[in-house]
This record gives sequence, C-alpha cells and structure tokens, in this order.
Amino acid sequence: MDINPKDFIETVYVRGVQISLVASGDGTEIIYHKLNPGVRWALEPTEGWTALEYFLVLSGELRYPSDNGYKVLKPGDSFYRSPVTDHHIFQSYQTTEFLYITSQPIFHHYSKASHGIMDLAVSIEEKDGYTVDHCSRIKRWSMLIGEELGFNAKQLLVLNNASFLHDVGKVKVPLSILQKPGKLTPKEWEIMKKHTTFGRELLESTQVPSLVDAGPIVEQHHERYDGTGYPFGLKKNEISIEASIIAVVDSYDAITSDRVYQKGRPKEEAIEEIFRCRGTMYHPDIVDIFLSLQNKMI
Ligand SMILES: [Fe+2]
Ligand SMILES: [Fe+2]
Repeated sequence: MDINPKDFIETVYVRGVQISLVASGDGTEIIYHKLNPGVRWALEPTEGWTALEYFLVLSGELRYPSDNGYKVLKPGDSFYRSPVTDHHIFQSYQTTEFLYITSQPIFHHYSKASHGIMDLAVSIEEKDGYTVDHCSRIKRWSMLIGEELGFNAKQLLVLNNASFLHDVGKVKVPLSILQKPGKLTPKEWEIMKKHTTFGRELLESTQVPSLVDAGPIVEQHHERYDGTGYPFGLKKNEISIEASIIAVVDSYDAITSDRVYQKGRPKEEAIEEIFRCRGTMYHPDIVDIFLSLQNKMI
C-alpha cells in the first residue's frame, strides 16, 4: 500500500520519526509514521486517556518485547489497544512505515515539539538584546541571496533553517555573559564563541534531517573570509557558501538594529562597512549579491 505524500495535511519530524497527518475528523486521526532505522517508538498509558490506538505496518518491521521473547510486526500486521493500559515499546531495524489511527487527536502535540526549536531561537534573540524579528530578517534576506544563487529546494530548506537558527546555541551561554553590558573578559569571550558549536550540537540532537544539515552552517556563521573568524579560523572557500551568506546579513542587521543598550546605525553606514570588508571579512561574491538586492531588503 502506497501513501502519496501529497495527501499529507501537515508533516513534522521528531527525533528520527516523520509524522504526517493524513486525515482527521470527529476526534479521530489517521497519522502516517516513518521511522529511521534504530528508532524506538512507544505507546504509553495516559491517565484519563481512553482512546482506541491502532496501527498497521506498511513497510519495514517493528520488534517489541512480549512475555516470551520478541515479537515482530511485518507489513500487513497490525497492533491495537483500547485503551492502552501497559507500556509498549517498538523498535525499527530498518526504515519502517506504519499508519496509526487514534480515536483522540494527538497530532498537535507532535507539531508543538517540532516548533519548539524555532520558539527557542526567538527567545534567544530577545535575551540577546534584539528588540524584534532579528531571526526572521536574517532568514528572509538569506533566502533572497540563496534564490539569487540558484539554490535548489533542499538547499533553500536547509538555508531557511540555518539562518533562522544561527544563534540558537546561545541558549547554552550563561545570561551573565550574554547580557553583560561591558566588555567580556577573555575567558567569557571564549564561552561566548562556543555558541556556534553549541548550535550545531543542538540541531544534530533533533535528528530532523533539514535541521541536522543546518548544523555545520550554524557552526560556521562567525567564520570570516580572511580566516580571522571562529570557531575554526576557516578561510575563503573552506567556509560553506550558506554560512558566508548568513555572515553578511547577520552583520548588516547587527549594525542597523536597535539593541537594548544601543541605537542602530543608519543603513548607509552599514552598507559602507560591509563593502569596506568585502574580500577581507566577507565573501566578495556574497557582498556583491547582497548590495545588488538592496531594494528588496526590507
Ligand atoms: Fe552568532
Ligand atoms: Fe544574529
């Protein structure tokens, strides 16, 4: 049995599992699941939860412990409980798809989990002193440049995530450092610089493919064309083109934005500064595209 991805109402990715809502109504939901190899998936009893839970394996296989050893569910096999009274844990040993039917709506819980990391990014921009929409602007402008460079759909999706989440690793930097009004000590600065690697680690931990792929870009967004950046001191084309894009638009927005402790500088000054650092701090081609798109950068 084949499910056409076009039939999915909404898709989210949570820790190695693709979860797509296929149909819903009268409190019943049909949800498609696709598990990566090695992923565990559980059915647990929940207080006050009396739903019928049923799933039908479409491909791959799921193993689960039972009283006498392990049982295996193969394509065409189903499993149901009404209600769930015990814990059941299933493991996929290969990519496994199943259709899951529940008589109480649960999809919105999954949806929330996947949006969590985006919310985290927004909470960081506030803690970092930006007044509004820093992440959204970086995303919008990065995407304009990506489109101008002829990125394909997958590259655009990854750039979309990397640009919005470029500073998400700051969640692991103590607030006393993040919000220190004065100059950071050398030791504090070393911790601050780690937000790049923290970001990559956080994105990798989600196991969502388009977030994992954004990880190395996030890690490189403070690398500089002449090798003076961090965390690795990469040079020129050692830096990914996506990270080079974010570096330019992030600097531009940092100069022009009003921050909690200082007023933003005029657009013209920011453009002058970016142009002055063309080929030293910033990738020359990206600076050229950035400047050519000025009338679209709102
Ligand atoms: Fe950053
Ligand atoms: Fe930023």
